Amino acid sequence: MILSLFLDKVGHHLSAWRHPGAGIERVFTLDFNTRLAQAAEAAKFDLVFLADALTLLPENNAAYTTAFQLEPTVLLSALMAATTRIGLAATVSTTYTEPYHVARKFATLDLLSEGRAAWNIVTSMRESEAHNFNLPQALPHELRYERAQEFVDVVRKLWDSWTLDGFVHDRERGVLADEARITAIHHEGKHFSVKGALNVPRRGRSQPVLIQAGASGVGKAFAARNADLIFASVTDFDASRAFTREMKQAAEAAGRNPGHLKILPGFIPIIGKTQAEADEKKRYLDELLLPTAAIRYLSQWLETDLTHLDADAPIPDEVFDIDRIKGQKGRFQNIQRISTTEKLSLGQLARRVSATRTHTSIVGTGETIAREMERWVAEGACDGFNILPPYFPGGFDEFAGEVVPILQERGVFRREYEHRTLRGHVGLPDAEPAQA
Ligand SMILES: Cc1cc2nc3c(=O)[nH]c(=O)nc-3n(C[C@H](O)[C@H](O)[C@H](O)COP(=O)(O)O)c2cc1C
Repeated sequence: MILSLFLDKVGHHLSAWRHPGAGIERVFTLDFNTRLAQAAEAAKFDLVFLADALTLLPENNAAYTTAFQLEPTVLLSALMAATTRIGLAATVSTTYTEPYHVARKFATLDLLSEGRAAWNIVTSMRESEAHNFNLPQALPHELRYERAQEFVDVVRKLWDSWTLDGFVHDRERGVLADEARITAIHHEGKHFSVKGALNVPRRGRSQPVLIQAGASGVGKAFAARNADLIFASVTDFDASRAFTREMKQAAEAAGRNPGHLKILPGFIPIIGKTQAEADEKKRYLDELLLPTAAIRYLSQWLETDLTHLDADAPIPDEVFDIDRIKGQKGRFQNIQRISTTEKLSLGQLARRVSATRTHTSIVGTGETIAREMERWVAEGACDGFNILPPYFPGGFDEFAGEVVPILQERGVFRREYEHRTLRGHVGLPDAEPAQA
């Protein structure tokens, strides 16, 4: 079972920052962030993941929610220095950067971390991000993915343009690098013109790990073609199994070994010593939610201002018109499904989405949660999980203390790292042996 820690500010429940166990006072300190990465490493997690948005989000909600966002590759460098084994993933947009920047950043992170770097590829879906980068509106969805594909192709060519094999540093002969093994890429495409070579050699036999979380048709096709790991947002076991099957088939159709594509649904665990204690913890977190923050948060996903509507009435049908949606269509459909099948009012739906972000939330004892996770993997619903603790640090410490030991006892999760590299941890090809 692969485990990723989604390290996002003080946690994934929208009310997390108000929880007395959350370290909101320390969220901007290095110590707070490195302690969490170290705790994930002590729990033998495969990777720690940092998201990103190039805007202060959600719009008009910064007063009530943790809308700020530290720059993830900078933070990741610090986490790298504080850890030795855990994989390190950061999000970088293909819409507001250039391939040379990105190839260089991850080549550097991968070299210095000795094979632990991963890039979460996003195309940036928000209008407010466009407004920070000289654009009146975001690029259309299809065009963003078209650019992303060429972007990734160029990054990969740059990573192949110079590897450590060519860095011969032969003092006797006076040859530092073997020029024959450094190749300019001369890429000329629709979106990019890049000569190369990269000015950082690639570290290992293989490239840094690629992560993606496409949910639309074009997004899923992109992920099936390019990703090593996929982050999914699913609300239950059946949806996860259907998604996993679909993605593995798509990878196979794209000529890849489906076993080399690993699916990690988001999982929000709320853990108690007893079921009653876990239920009480959830109730308490939900009670801390500010109704106005929750409705503004839902407004962001539905791309509609819902603040003037009656919170006790259902959301009007016309809001659920997917053709309007420019951002996350998959999330939008999840929310629509929850709203219609459970017949929730606006207020109830806003609370639900604020608590789970349309991921699966499971409330129970360590034993219940571990068994459920084991079942998902055993029955082909996923290869592991992206763990989204409701609040940090307490919510993660409980997972590490109550769930991980049971997974280890049951033999479904490692007790010790067997590899040095992220590829090795997650079982991707070209992993290097432990002593490399
Ligand atoms: C767990 C998870 C993490 C994500 N992290 C980010 C992120 O950090 N930044 C971002 O812009 N999008 C992020 N996304 C959004 C995806 O990149 C993608 O845009 C979204 O799932 C919608 O799919 P589509 O692009 O195919 O419409 C994330 C999605 C998931 C499920």
